[in-house]
Amino acid sequence: MNLSQASQQRLELLAQDSGKRVLLPCPLNQRALDFSSNDYLCLAQRGDIVEAGHECAKKYGAGATGSRLLSGNLDCFEELESQVAQFKNAEAALVFSSGYQANASGLAALLDKTLWSGAEPLVFTDRLNHASLHHACQLAGVKQIRFRHNDMAHLAELLSKHQESTHPKIIVSETVFGMEGDLLPIESLATIALQHKAVVYLDEAHATGIWGPEGRGLGAIQHPAIDALKTLGHWVIMGTFSKAVGVSGAYIACSEIFKQYLVNRCTGFVYSTAPSPFIIGAVGKALEIIPGMNTERSALHTAADTLRERVHDLGFDTGLSNTHIVPLVVGSNVACLELKADLQQAGIRTSAVRPPTVPPNAARVRLALNTGHTFAVYEQLLHALASWKVSA
Ligand SMILES: Cc1ncc(COP(=O)(O)O)c(C=O)c1O
Repeated sequence: MNLSQASQQRLELLAQDSGKRVLLPCPLNQRALDFSSNDYLCLAQRGDIVEAGHECAKKYGAGATGSRLLSGNLDCFEELESQVAQFKNAEAALVFSSGYQANASGLAALLDKTLWSGAEPLVFTDRLNHASLHHACQLAGVKQIRFRHNDMAHLAELLSKHQESTHPKIIVSETVFGMEGDLLPIESLATIALQHKAVVYLDEAHATGIWGPEGRGLGAIQHPAIDALKTLGHWVIMGTFSKAVGVSGAYIACSEIFKQYLVNRCTGFVYSTAPSPFIIGAVGKALEIIPGMNTERSALHTAADTLRERVHDLGFDTGLSNTHIVPLVVGSNVACLELKADLQQAGIRTSAVRPPTVPPNAARVRLALNTGHTFAVYEQLLHALASWKVSA
């Protein structure tokens, strides 16, 4: 069998269970009715952010020309990292070209047993963590000890079972779950981590810009257990610039010493060209703007609460959602694709999220709300959802 035949066979198998994905055009003039974008604060098109990107590119060039350890360590990276550290209330930060890269290689470096004098870490992971977090565990060759989604009692129970172990303990979770749209009980997690002397690695991809004080993420809140973990250097926070920040790339905010370790041992940092200066300039501007957007954030949270109530009235299940991400859990892949297609017919763009991204029989249409969605747009969405319910 050649590669084309093998690919064809694999695609046919995916299609049998309505799991085959295709790329669709995404016209800019249809953004108003777009519930699939993660541009939660509508910053991607903002003039001053685009302009700041241009200015930085004009000064430093279109590309960084190499890894930061070779020719690529431009001043703009150091400046952005200081800004991110301040934004996250952390000692230091390191930037990456993408969130996937930051997780896959940054978390893998944290889990590398050579960091821990050869002792393989015990890694406690939420069952619904993002694929990039799973990938990091695979890369590091560690076995995950999975706790039930957001179930802190289960996490504590699993940690207690390993109480006598001298191996390092690391807890990995998202703070806003991208597919469920629910919040991590971060204070409980921090308290448990401190009791067990565990290191915490949190992914703030969907929280950055939207949750926590002034949109700095949940990891930036003040809490005695969090402060104690920070003092120990056990508080490692990853987040992206690709969602509410409206650009692309990612950061890991951590202690200065762990940053220096990553600079030396994180493969996604060492062996990859630094991000384009355009990105760095644009992200810097967005991070200046985001803390001042409390009014927009609270309007977004109110809109999400109202939408949840209205879709419940129509008979939809929004699962565990309590954030600006509202999944409509319909179960089968077929129903999910039908709902997405019906909404598309009404001009509304959404994402159909199917296993293995979500658990079996939990396919869903994911609605990602943003600050640009108007009252009229919500009414149009609700009308289309009501029509689908009638015809289903
Ligand atoms: C929770 C989470 N982490 C990481 C990523 C990867 O981020 P990026 O798109 O910047 O690569 C995503 C993207 O969907 C995500 O949802």
